[in-house]
Amino acid sequence: MKPKPFLLLLLLLLLQLNYLFHLADSKPHLVPSDPSQLASWVAHSMRSSSPSSQGTDGDQRLSAAESGRPRVIRVAKSEPADFGTVTEAISSIPEGNTRRTVVWIGGGVYWEKITVGSGKPFVTLYGDPADRPRIVFNATASQYGTVYSATVAVESDYFMAVNVIFENAAPMPEINSKGSQAVAMRISGDKAAFYSCDFLGFQDTLCDSQGRHLFMDSYVRGTVDFIFGNGTSLYLNVTIESVAEETGVITAQAREKEGETSGFSFLHCTIRGATKDYTTYLGRAWRERSRVVFAYTFMPAVINPAGWYSVGSTPNPNQSVYYGEYKCKGPGAIPSGRVSYAKLLTDEEASPFLSMTFINGHKWLLPPPRLTTTFSTSSYNR
Ligand SMILES: *[C@@H]1O[C@H](CO)[C@@H](O)[C@H](O)[C@H]1NC(C)=O
Ligand SMILES: *[C@@H]1O[C@H](CO)[C@@H](O)[C@H](O)[C@H]1NC(C)=O
Ligand SMILES: *[C@@H]1O[C@H](CO)[C@@H](O)[C@H](O)[C@H]1NC(C)=O
Ligand SMILES: *[C@@H]1O[C@H](CO)[C@@H](O)[C@H](O)[C@H]1NC(C)=O
Repeated sequence: MKPKPFLLLLLLLLLQLNYLFHLADSKPHLVPSDPSQLASWVAHSMRSSSPSSQGTDGDQRLSAAESGRPRVIRVAKSEPADFGTVTEAISSIPEGNTRRTVVWIGGGVYWEKITVGSGKPFVTLYGDPADRPRIVFNATASQYGTVYSATVAVESDYFMAVNVIFENAAPMPEINSKGSQAVAMRISGDKAAFYSCDFLGFQDTLCDSQGRHLFMDSYVRGTVDFIFGNGTSLYLNVTIESVAEETGVITAQAREKEGETSGFSFLHCTIRGATKDYTTYLGRAWRERSRVVFAYTFMPAVINPAGWYSVGSTPNPNQSVYYGEYKCKGPGAIPSGRVSYAKLLTDEEASPFLSMTFINGHKWLLPPPRLTTTFSTSSYNR
């Protein structure tokens, strides 16, 4: 039988459309230059908005963990709650956890040192948005080693934190003191997201150690190397405040070899610094191939015109680092005084750092859980 020509045409048209959709799908969706469109860009760059990524993409564990209602554990200082400390709530989560577990935390100060071990994936710390809880401890490098000084250390995958203040309250190190590094948060699990969180410390505040991460609508305060590690991370709309009295350095990224995917990409961030002009640098190399990009970011006069720190630096950043800037603004964003290895990126060079593809977010990134009445009361009713 001879098929009707218009059916053939229709078929061709459908194939063509299908092809175009696939093309659109695989093309990275770049962050908008207008910050007011940031929230909707993120919403459209997540796993939840991409049904094709939910079933057969190899992340069946995540699909299974997110199917059905999350388990909710409630922590509070005084109101009725399941536990009075975050530590107890984390302890109650079974090793080999397979279900999304939301630890709801009421306002107040929690003096605790917490590790979420690698056997406990799918944990969300959700602070009361009206009264964000503060988890604080004061361990330092001299007692614990830098990495183990973290107030909260997360070693598991699929972690999320929303509306939580993480603080290391050890005092600001004296100039040239040794062993006073004090980490507020260490994240070394893969596929983690932080929304509306604060990270407070001085030297080595945020250990962005390993894995793919998103930090959004958040605040990081520190003095030296205060965002450091081998993470592969996007920082979106994050306020970064240098409180260094002498020399401040924001990042110490630790990518080691060419071809490794790690790096920090700061998009639509705001740098602040109350201290003297020109005293803070965007970063220095912790390892050979350190990789950091700032795009659409406001840089105040506290940023040194050289941009990146290399005095007495090992490794020698001249040959090996990748430090880029793209469409940044403010008195500290002057490219003319920059070190020779700083790159002012072209559109094409910047593009890998400007989309969710950098952290593969469309495969795993989820929005914060919605705080509905049923959500906030469900733990009372259990
Ligand atoms: C940490 O806090 C405790 C209790 O307030 C205090 O005794 C200790 O000296 C502090 N340690 C550091 C390193 O600040
Ligand atoms: C950026 O984050 C802050 C919270 O730190 C929030 O108030 C603000 O609305 C966010 N801005 C954009 C453009 O999303
Ligand atoms: C750094 O991170 C990348 C990407 O996750 C990884 O391939 C590499 O092994 C890490 N390097 C070290 C020293 O852990
Ligand atoms: C990097 O190169 C610059 C310019 O050639 C030079 O002044 C600087 O000393 C070099 N840095 C290191 C650590 O070798």
